[in-house]
Amino acid sequence: MIYVTKIYMPDREKFKSYIDGIYESGWLTNNGPLVQELEKKLEDFLGVKNLLCLSSGTDALQFAYRLLEVEDKEVITTPFSFVSTVSAIAAERLTPVFADIDKDTYNMDPKNIERLINDKTCAIAPCHVFGNACEIDEIDAIAKKHDLKVIYDASHAFDVEYKGKHILGYGDMSIISFHATKMFHTVEGGAIVIKDDALYEKAKVVRNYGIDAPDSVSMLGVNSKLNEVGAAMGLCMLEEEDIIHKERKKSHEFYTRKLREFVQLQEKNPSADQSYSYFPVVFDDENEMDQVRTALFEKGVAARQYFKPSLDTLPYVNCSEVMENSRDIASRILVIPMHSGVEPMVAETIIDTLSNMRTYEQAS
Ligand SMILES: Cc1ncc(COP(=O)(O)O)c(C=O)c1O
Repeated sequence: MIYVTKIYMPDREKFKSYIDGIYESGWLTNNGPLVQELEKKLEDFLGVKNLLCLSSGTDALQFAYRLLEVEDKEVITTPFSFVSTVSAIAAERLTPVFADIDKDTYNMDPKNIERLINDKTCAIAPCHVFGNACEIDEIDAIAKKHDLKVIYDASHAFDVEYKGKHILGYGDMSIISFHATKMFHTVEGGAIVIKDDALYEKAKVVRNYGIDAPDSVSMLGVNSKLNEVGAAMGLCMLEEEDIIHKERKKSHEFYTRKLREFVQLQEKNPSADQSYSYFPVVFDDENEMDQVRTALFEKGVAARQYFKPSLDTLPYVNCSEVMENSRDIASRILVIPMHSGVEPMVAETIIDTLSNMRTYEQAS
């Protein structure tokens, strides 16, 4: 079976040489030399400062909310993302409040934000879905007007610059997942980029159980450390980023060329780079989506409905308003695999299935 994501394994000998080094040093975790090297190299590669590697993307989101040090507050977020975008808010005992998405970009629509702001609101937490940059300027302006923090979930956007600067450099904090299925990964892992220098210094202590010096615990902390094996994987991946990027770009361009007249493609933010992380296609209705999904499955391709369920329906959020756009897109979207070799077959199956269906509908 061919799945939507395929884990990239970097050069084996290179990885082995890092593992040999770990055996020699005996240093497996606790802010080791490889984590420090990876943080420095990522800062240089992405052109950002104050980047901290953490143990996962979910952890990075929860970590961001912990750093806010607020209680009994609300966070305005998107209903259309991976579940962690919202579960992290709830897990930190904050209340997620949903602003519905735009039907073309699939990102939180800034027009829906302001009416949700009240005395309890402490932050806005959008996600750059499928690596498509949010309306950052508009969101930041709303946050500034109401004195709110902005926490961006940039988990899909490792390859994206917005207005000439890497997307992780926006907001008060931005987080990213380095899960094995992502374009850049550390097996499990993630990172946070923190705008404020003092908060960044504090975050380093929070990440290490609140321990700021030998025999000194200065604040409430957690264990959010990335380990040395994960960092070794990250260092290997970073060396091959241009290869990964080129391969994905080629596949993305192929799909765009073949499919744009048959299905709805995500409308990208013109001020940002095209991300090559995912390839979502949206059909006219759920029935069409389902037929294509079945036809692909029969050929051994497991295309998937991202992001279903729409997050306003989660059992632990109390959302009284229906997020219509999010539910609608979630019901008729498929993310298709983008690895070399599968593209022509997937594109042909989609086109054939739709052509057969639509001809049949016209005839009947
Ligand atoms: C948008 C988004 N946010 C957060 C996460 C959570 O990241 P992790 O799996 O590293 O915990 C993911 C993971 O897929 C994601 O896609």
